[in-house]
Amino acid sequence: MEKKIISKAIFPVAGLGTRFLPATKAMPKELLPVIDKPLIQYAAEEAINAGIDTLIFVTGKNKRAIEDHFDANHELEQALISAGKIKQAEMIKNILPEGIDCVFVRQPEQLGLGHAILCAEKIIGDEPFAVLLADDFLTSGGEQTVSKLIKSFEESQKIKLSVMEVNGPEISEYGVVSFDKNGNVAGLVEKPSFRDAPSRLASIGRYILTPNIFESIKNVESGFNREIQLADAINLLAVKGLVEAVYFEGKRFDCGSVKGFVEAIKFMSK
Ligand code: UTP
Repeated sequence: MEKKIISKAIFPVAGLGTRFLPATKAMPKELLPVIDKPLIQYAAEEAINAGIDTLIFVTGKNKRAIEDHFDANHELEQALISAGKIKQAEMIKNILPEGIDCVFVRQPEQLGLGHAILCAEKIIGDEPFAVLLADDFLTSGGEQTVSKLIKSFEESQKIKLSVMEVNGPEISEYGVVSFDKNGNVAGLVEKPSFRDAPSRLASIGRYILTPNIFESIKNVESGFNREIQLADAINLLAVKGLVEAVYFEGKRFDCGSVKGFVEAIKFMSK
């Protein structure tokens, strides 16, 4: 069988989730359910639907429940079957469809998103890969975001950022794309003021990255709290013309915040 260009996805899930304390003290925020399904499962399904067969979770303290969620649970399946709950048994079995592998890597310290991705370097090897931040909950009427990014990657083989238009002052909560005079991505400006924002296009939690990002991450200087930002590493490649933006047209909810999470639930219960 022909090997897919992108078969691996990284799910960085090692963040502390401080905006959602105390809920996230012992429970990973990625397991917060939007109605009846955890955030991480929505993200995993998006990756699997895009043809990805290796899910790499970069985990930290208190994240073991994510491993349990994707692990087989034959006892539960059998108990459900014995109770005649065949539909539920199937649902549990299909959390991880056949042919999909899960790999768990530990980020020993919370040193930022760039560092989390570097923790998966050996597992990725020398191939392009997707990154999904599960707390960015996306709904798109048509094609899902990762599929769209992969298609676009196949055309140009460049790093892909998923971007959405943000017109109000809330732009200052995002990494905002700057463009050069030819309209090419020049970089990401982290959390600019509304006035200084270089564009109205904000980067959201879906990426296709190329393996040269690892060298780039190693060349980034750590910032506040010794964190290594992915945006800084992307910027080193953007100046070489290696980064492109792909427009996201659905709805995005920041489920790492209580407000975004509540809005997502309201939206999904309509
Ligand atoms: P966030 O900025 O949402 O940080 O990270 P956080 O720690 O998860 O949440 P708050 O801000 O304290 O509430 C963006 C993504 O990067 C991952 C997070 O799990 C999230 O998916 N991340 C962040 C890591 O995996 N490791 C880190 O060191 C930092």
